[in-house]
Amino acid sequence: MGSERKAPEPCSIVIFGASGDLTARKLIPAFYHLCKEKQMPSAFRIIGFARREKTDESWRNELRAALDQFSRTKPVDEKVWQEFSANLFYCQGDITDAAAYKKLEERLTSFGSGPLRENLLFYLATLPSQFGEVVEQIHRAGLLNKEGSAWQRIVVEKPFGHDLASAHALNRELTRFAHEQQVCRIDHYLGKETVQNILMFRFSNSVFERLWNRNLIDHVQITVSEKLGVGQRGGYYEEAGALRDMVQNHMLQVLALIAMEPPVSLESEAIRDEKVKLLKSIRPLGPDDVARQIVRGQYFAGTVNGLPAPGYRQEPKVKSDSNVETYVALKLFIDNWRWSGVPFYLRTGKCLPQSASEVRIQFRPTPHVLFAAQCDLKLDSNSITLRLQPNEGISLHFNGKVPGMSLGVRPVRMNFSYDAEFGAYTPEAYERLLLEAIAGDATLFIRRDEVETAWKIVDSIRAGWDGKPLTNREFYAAGTWGPVAAEDLLAQSGHVWHEPQQLT
Ligand code: BG6
Repeated sequence: MGSERKAPEPCSIVIFGASGDLTARKLIPAFYHLCKEKQMPSAFRIIGFARREKTDESWRNELRAALDQFSRTKPVDEKVWQEFSANLFYCQGDITDAAAYKKLEERLTSFGSGPLRENLLFYLATLPSQFGEVVEQIHRAGLLNKEGSAWQRIVVEKPFGHDLASAHALNRELTRFAHEQQVCRIDHYLGKETVQNILMFRFSNSVFERLWNRNLIDHVQITVSEKLGVGQRGGYYEEAGALRDMVQNHMLQVLALIAMEPPVSLESEAIRDEKVKLLKSIRPLGPDDVARQIVRGQYFAGTVNGLPAPGYRQEPKVKSDSNVETYVALKLFIDNWRWSGVPFYLRTGKCLPQSASEVRIQFRPTPHVLFAAQCDLKLDSNSITLRLQPNEGISLHFNGKVPGMSLGVRPVRMNFSYDAEFGAYTPEAYERLLLEAIAGDATLFIRRDEVETAWKIVDSIRAGWDGKPLTNREFYAAGTWGPVAAEDLLAQSGHVWHEPQQLT
């Protein structure tokens, strides 16, 4: 990961489910930007595969309109678009129809017998229940070889199942005709610059790595808060909930990167081994632990940004008596040498007062409260905040003397900001992830055992909730920081949640 690598090899990319939102909003804008930044292979083709009747031309026109809307840089560069769009093709077909794959194979063969026919990236932007079918069909059409010098890879998106058993089944389906090494499971959080920087920050700075253990760290807080409610995604969310939607993947990934041991090398397997080891050392949760250590919540109507916001149960496609959690807070322990006894608090929710993701490392207080006694103040203990988004950066908080004759003390902040240091370079997570998939670097993709270990944790929490409807204490007004029980969770150990930092 990270270092300069050789130019990616020419290849063709096939997007299954190409009529969907993901293609228009994320995939095509990401490929366009990779093209603009001259990161794409010297030759490439992108084929959209979907059921609706379209020509190459009409698909291109549709994508152009989408790009005008969703591109992170505007206006769209005409010259780059002309060059890029000449490589876009459409293949109409039903995912279950062998003849459609034959047509796809012919289209690929029309690109010649070289790498554009042989090096293939299959992006499955379809329902997970269709993954098995697509993989089998591309195998039968002779497009997926387990051996050989050319490469073929399959990219899939979450959800990877809805519990351990279904994830297991899905993984079995995916690897029936492909090797595990050919499967790229995307967690878009791993494509974010700031998430990638966690390992860099930890393992290239001796100053910080020395502090990174139970002797100095009191506790860790990971917050991923969102202002928006579930909006139009009620149907999906009713099946998911915050635990499956955010904790199983993004939050446990961030936790693993924050807490894992140094890998033996920067090889993808070495890094993923350490992440799995960390996830496996999270203390198992029985039903009593769930009652004590996990808080869930659901928003009711409130005010966000000064505007009225509906409650979750009033959102479209949500049951009027739904017990699905839109908020979850967890107190986890990692039973290993480095972290024994250090609580890791994680929280995420919809309709909270801010959209922000950050990790706060809270250090132990000074052994003796010398100044606090003098100043009649409760001194803040030191902390480091890694701001994943927005205002990406890192801050170190410590206490400083207020200038003047008295012994006034005040918390102050040393701040590193990505924008100030490097300029506003904010590639979308998908740009990085698609490039890694083409290059064949698996570091940023989730390995099978990672997914399954994370599901084990989530399943144990769901088992603790099983059959228990939400109680009054578990509701929170839209626009507030979640249910009071989440405050109590930390108060038991004398801790408080810190609101994500808002930089001015
Ligand atoms: C997705 C979830 O995986 O991540 C969404 O399904 C959530 O519910 C989103 O809003 C958050 O991603 P980001 O990049 O906006 O923090």
